Amino acid sequence: MSIPARASVPKFDLAAMFAPAQAVEAYIRQMLEQRPLPAHLREAVSYSLLGPGKRLRPILIVRACEAVGGKPEQALSAAAAMEMVHCFSLVHDDLPAMDDDDLRRGRPTLHKHTNEAMAILAGDLMLGLAFETLATRVTPPALAGALVRELGVGTNDMIAGQVYDTLPQFDPAMAPLERLQTIHRNKTGALIRASCRMGGLAGGADPQGSALGNLTAYGEAIGLMFQVVDDLLDVTQTTAQLGKAAHKDAEHGKLTYPGVLGIDATKVEVRRLQEQAHHALAPLGDRAAALRELCDFMAVREK
Ligand code: IPE
Ligand code: IPE
Ligand code: MG
Ligand code: MG
Ligand code: MG
Repeated sequence: MSIPARASVPKFDLAAMFAPAQAVEAYIRQMLEQRPLPAHLREAVSYSLLGPGKRLRPILIVRACEAVGGKPEQALSAAAAMEMVHCFSLVHDDLPAMDDDDLRRGRPTLHKHTNEAMAILAGDLMLGLAFETLATRVTPPALAGALVRELGVGTNDMIAGQVYDTLPQFDPAMAPLERLQTIHRNKTGALIRASCRMGGLAGGADPQGSALGNLTAYGEAIGLMFQVVDDLLDVTQTTAQLGKAAHKDAEHGKLTYPGVLGIDATKVEVRRLQEQAHHALAPLGDRAAALRELCDFMAVREK
């Protein structure tokens, strides 16, 4: 997978930053080859899982694992499982009943590439496959159980967030900014937070320890920041640059940061969350250097 497909921001060593993606992709490819599946379902799932995405969540898992002293290999099953849930969320997010998008990662969305029934079923399969991966490939069983729990909570919070985003029926007394945070922390933040925690657990962090607490606080800050930036990019970038339809949020009446705060105050909010993430990582020292860089990249990414 080529680096330009992922990002283009010049000041970062993107080849080094995204290097673990290759091992995760190889792991997913091998899993799909070994798993008996109807040929057209395998094709649909491969199209989504191995398409030109950034693989940010798998990279976060590997880097969080390293930040607590683990080796990247320890994090591969968790990284693959997370990318499966992420791709399931994208495929269903793009369906006509949801955001109704035709373009994703610079290519037709899965329901355009195949058809709606296949896209629904491929999404379902990726969700099931994620948990199958953790349950069958992670040892010891206590770690498998802990990762299943983290991914289960993250997935279900993501789905709750998609409901808030798509069918918003909130407490009418809730202020717009509080609503926005509730949507964003769930629909996007939950899987990013879970990624940081799963990486830490895969790397051997004590579930009750301070390192996992630091990774969780980092994950919460960058999780919200990621969707704030996504909202900003929807307004400031072109469809060609993003590889997905730009200027859709306002058109669809979505509650977004630029919509509520304006572009300048949204940029200030990105900086605030970036600082919060750095603060959370401070106790982890040099081993968290890659997570710091990843956060800085996520704040200024252009797609
Ligand atoms: C897009 O996520 C969906 C959101 C949560 C905003 P990414 O921007 O990480 O998507 P890919 O995987 O790189 O395509
Ligand atoms: C996506 O939010 C959140 C999930 C897929 C869970 P968006 O609807 O803003 O994501 P994009 O812009 O389509 O990638
Ligand atoms: Mg959406
Ligand atoms: Mg969408
Ligand atoms: Mg968006």
